[in-house]
Amino acid sequence: MTKSTQEPTKICCLGAGYVGGPTMAMIAHKCPEIDVHVVDLNPDRIAQWNSEKLPVYEPGLYDVVKQARGRNLRFTTDVPGAIREANMCFISVNTPTKTFGIGAGRAANLEFVEKCARTIAENSDSDKVVVEKSTLPVRTAESVKRILSSHSAKVKFDVLSNPEFLAEGTAMEDLRDPDRILIGGDSSAAIEKLADVYKNWVPNDKIIRTNLWSSELSKLTANAFLAQRVSSINAISALCEATGADVDEVAGAIGTDSRIGPKFLKASVGFGGSCFQKDILNLVYLCEHFGLPEVAQYWEQVVKMNDYQKYRFSTRIVKKMFNTVSNKKIAIWGFAFKKDTNDTRESAAIYVCRDLLEERAKLTIYDPKVDIDQIRRDLAYLIAGPNGELTEVQKELLQTHVTVAKSAEEAADGAHAIALMTEWDEFKDADFDSIYQSMMKPAFVFDGRNVLDSQKLSGIGFDIESIGKA
Ligand SMILES: NC(=O)c1ccc[n+]([C@@H]2O[C@H](COP(=O)([O-])OP(=O)(O)OC[C@H]3O[C@@H](n4cnc5c(N)ncnc54)[C@H](O)[C@@H]3O)[C@@H](O)[C@H]2O)c1
Repeated sequence: MTKSTQEPTKICCLGAGYVGGPTMAMIAHKCPEIDVHVVDLNPDRIAQWNSEKLPVYEPGLYDVVKQARGRNLRFTTDVPGAIREANMCFISVNTPTKTFGIGAGRAANLEFVEKCARTIAENSDSDKVVVEKSTLPVRTAESVKRILSSHSAKVKFDVLSNPEFLAEGTAMEDLRDPDRILIGGDSSAAIEKLADVYKNWVPNDKIIRTNLWSSELSKLTANAFLAQRVSSINAISALCEATGADVDEVAGAIGTDSRIGPKFLKASVGFGGSCFQKDILNLVYLCEHFGLPEVAQYWEQVVKMNDYQKYRFSTRIVKKMFNTVSNKKIAIWGFAFKKDTNDTRESAAIYVCRDLLEERAKLTIYDPKVDIDQIRRDLAYLIAGPNGELTEVQKELLQTHVTVAKSAEEAADGAHAIALMTEWDEFKDADFDSIYQSMMKPAFVFDGRNVLDSQKLSGIGFDIESIGKA
């Protein structure tokens, strides 16, 4: 006998990462009557979720976790136990770009999602709604359904797609007041069961119901459009630097057009984060798979433009500093891919640091939320390249040419240049008069986010270079 699906909703979320943790904390916070268990295979991550120092930094997250933890929110490594107790399972595991085999460098690696589907199937003796929260290639639900249904004929699984649109750095605001909730599925009863969870705080007219494939594809499309806007304005920034136009003025002027709108028009050293690049490459792979090479090339250009922008920034630093940065100290301000997060995945800073290390610059890195081990791991990973092995020379370079500082001022002390990589607010408010005094002259500032007051800094004596300004 299978249990009825009319019983109170009990949630298990597989994956306690940047999405699973905050999303489930918000559900637990807004729905005190729903038990929410967040599980992960990584015991360190779970221990951190149960501690004072959460593994994810997001403004406002800790308060929400603290309120609900121990009441109706639990973080545990007991994956089978949490699945058995639940009637709704979210899959919120990582879906990185494949690094091996068919589709390497483009397709999403779905091994973690498949493993979740198998674990859910193996540990279910009652009907469940299975919710894809991870970003997945269109038609993944088909595979998830097959795996689930091939396990036991007695248990009924309904598979839904419910992609997450939160942005890191503003995740809690985004979750509290989302633009929309998207639910795709075949079973309207299952869709409404999930909609009922969100209706505890999201107005019903913001809950969009679609078929499964539209929902899966909408997430990839949303990220592709957002990244495309960044690459578009970054492409124009290169032309601005060549012509004397100012990219912020251009963005301001075009953003007033209601058809274009002002958001996501900030030129920068390039987008980062775990999602944009991976999701576009995934889209490219899908287009190729479905025999649409022109569409694939169109979207791939967004990623190529982003790589170009990061490299352009590194080469500009070298050129401006008299074509050599060898053994010159450069302060790297910020390492996270954007402000208000400790996430460094695909951060532009890693690529720029790699380029500068190849030129033998001495880097002193400061980020308010990223710890030293993470910085060293990220650099070692990128420098090692595809085989994962560091040569003796590379190991030595990382030892002798990379230091991590405790403050922006400390990083800049004695430096020839500051490269601002992340737009943390504290950088805007730094004491530039005293920083200037402590630096080598000429004192260069390369503002990779266009957040500094260039007139003020020029007035102090800095040689400041911004994106998209001649
Ligand atoms: N980070 C974002 O801003 C964001 C936004 C929207 C959507 N997404 C998507 O959400 C998904 C998760 O992203 P993330 O940033 O939270 O990833 P993450 O790497 O931070 O977290 C994933 C977690 O899943 C765990 N995990 C892997 N396999 C597991 C298994 N079989 N059982 C239990 N736990 C397992 C990992 O240990 C890890 O802690 C991805 O598909 C991503 O594309 C991410």
